[in-house]
Amino acid sequence: MMERNTPLILLVWLVWLNGCFLSEVNGLRAQGKHKQIQRRKSSKPNLLELPLRSAADLGAAQYFVTMRIGTPPKEFRMSVSTCSVLTWIKCSNCSSGKELSDMRFYQPNKSRTFRNIPCSSSFCTSDLIPSQSNDICPKRDAPCRYDYRHKDGTRLVGTIGNDTVTIRMKGNQKVILENVTIGCTKATKLQIDYPLDGLLGLCPDRQSFAGTALRQTRTTSFSYCLVDSLSPINVSSYLVFGGSNRLPNMQETDLLMGHWTWSIYYHLNVTGISLDGKMLHIPSDMWLYNPNGRSGVVILDIGTSLTALAAPVYDNLIRGLLPSISKFKKVKTEENNDFKHCFNSTGFNETLVPKLRIHFGNGAKFEPPVKNYVIGQGIKCLGFIKFDAHQTSIIGNLLQQNHFWEFDFPNYKLKFAPSTCISD
Ligand SMILES: *[C@@H]1O[C@H](CO)[C@@H](O)[C@H](O)[C@H]1NC(C)=O
Ligand SMILES: *[C@@H]1O[C@H](CO)[C@@H](O)[C@H](O)[C@H]1NC(C)=O
Ligand SMILES: *[C@@H]1O[C@H](CO)[C@@H](O)[C@H](O)[C@H]1NC(C)=O
Ligand SMILES: *[C@@H]1O[C@H](CO)[C@@H](O)[C@H](O)[C@H]1NC(C)=O
Ligand SMILES: *[C@@H]1O[C@H](CO)[C@@H](O)[C@H](O)[C@H]1NC(C)=O
Ligand SMILES: *[C@@H]1O[C@H](CO)[C@@H](O)[C@H](O)[C@H]1NC(C)=O
Ligand SMILES: *[C@@H]1O[C@H](CO)[C@@H](O)[C@H](O)[C@H]1NC(C)=O
Ligand SMILES: *[C@@H]1O[C@H](CO)[C@@H](O)[C@H](O)[C@H]1NC(C)=O
Repeated sequence: MMERNTPLILLVWLVWLNGCFLSEVNGLRAQGKHKQIQRRKSSKPNLLELPLRSAADLGAAQYFVTMRIGTPPKEFRMSVSTCSVLTWIKCSNCSSGKELSDMRFYQPNKSRTFRNIPCSSSFCTSDLIPSQSNDICPKRDAPCRYDYRHKDGTRLVGTIGNDTVTIRMKGNQKVILENVTIGCTKATKLQIDYPLDGLLGLCPDRQSFAGTALRQTRTTSFSYCLVDSLSPINVSSYLVFGGSNRLPNMQETDLLMGHWTWSIYYHLNVTGISLDGKMLHIPSDMWLYNPNGRSGVVILDIGTSLTALAAPVYDNLIRGLLPSISKFKKVKTEENNDFKHCFNSTGFNETLVPKLRIHFGNGAKFEPPVKNYVIGQGIKCLGFIKFDAHQTSIIGNLLQQNHFWEFDFPNYKLKFAPSTCISD
């Protein structure tokens, strides 16, 4: 475990394996194969709650849930991603092995409820394409395989099967989900040491954990509330399937799903960004939703820490923010060169920083507190990174913290409101 006072900026990695970029490779193959989470006419109200915590104490700017997988059930810590369809768990000593002394491996062979998914089945060759299944099939009954590669060298290799997931809720109530499609990651090549056991995929796809959990609990929405990213591990809020939360100041905007047949992301209809009420001059094609384009425009992801913005957006925003921090001593961070604008915050006051607002097509506004974008303690940094102009921008988890977020499928709406997310 890291020291409790580890600076936030050391915990921030761009965790590509959380899914956002890996699918670019396979977009064409996935075209038309993707099945949306379906609308449901009637559903009896039901509820599935998983405690959601910050992984800062484990050394990552991520959020994770704990769940039991297999029979007999074994407990795993799963980082949460709304950018991945596939849910996967480490199945062997895949990385350096340093963190693995507690042997948190998934062993399908030892689970009575594990079901092999043959590589020759249409479930593998068609339904699981958005989960990155590939067409390597040496024998009919050989397991369905995946091989994620990202251009930075990140790679995940493994086999996919079904197993049972057991979730213990408040009051010791047990909920069992069957036939959850899970990847068993046998080999990884990562730029970082991944301190969690696996990843929970919440993409809008029928085969993701979100799709399966909604179907089996007969609910139509899920939500999460993000505690402060530096909260200790004993502080939790919830990832909830079903239920209805009414918070004051709830805003609502469209999720652009179903517009773009193979998209597995939560696209938003952003129309602009303002600082202290002044709209930034950003070329409108940065926001224009273009169904024929290679990439979407802005997506929301809980598995990416920093907010990544396409160059024209980033440049404008940074230009608007820099004057407020220019009088502080600039600090070069060697540990992590994702940060370009860091400073010694002695004498800093958040009221100096212009108020950021992200504007959506229907008039909704997201107004994150300054600490969500001028991040860190002692040394502070602007919490944005620059992407190429053609890349999809990502609203990451630091910008989302201390807010409640609900994904409402029947209505294709994203609802959000500020909250400390401290329950109980
Ligand atoms: C993982 O590594 C540990 C320590 O190196 C070793 O004892 C253990 O047998 C390994 N487990 C697997 C499943 O390879
Ligand atoms: C199960 O164990 C056998 C023997 O150790 C091994 O060959 C096989 O690959 C394992 N299957 C899975 C799905 O891990
Ligand atoms: C799990 O999948 C198997 C094989 O498709 C099917 O027979 C079974 O009914 C499914 N169970 C549930 C609860 O969906
Ligand atoms: C795996 O689970 C999915 C539903 O999540 C089901 O459609 C499929 O038939 C299952 N396959 C097996 C082999 O159990
Ligand atoms: C978390 O643990 C710390 C000590 O490690 C304790 O001071 C604090 O009260 C705990 N918080 C909760 C919500 O349990
Ligand atoms: C920030 O500057 C102050 C005053 O110059 C200095 O005492 C302090 O050590 C610096 N802090 C960091 C984290 O560099
Ligand atoms: C920041 O500035 C505001 C307004 O000037 C003031 O009320 C507040 O106390 C200051 N906060 C700190 C931590 O200095
Ligand atoms: C996004 O919002 C704008 C402004 O309200 C609207 O004209 C446009 O149709 C919306 N785009 C989509 C794809 O819904």
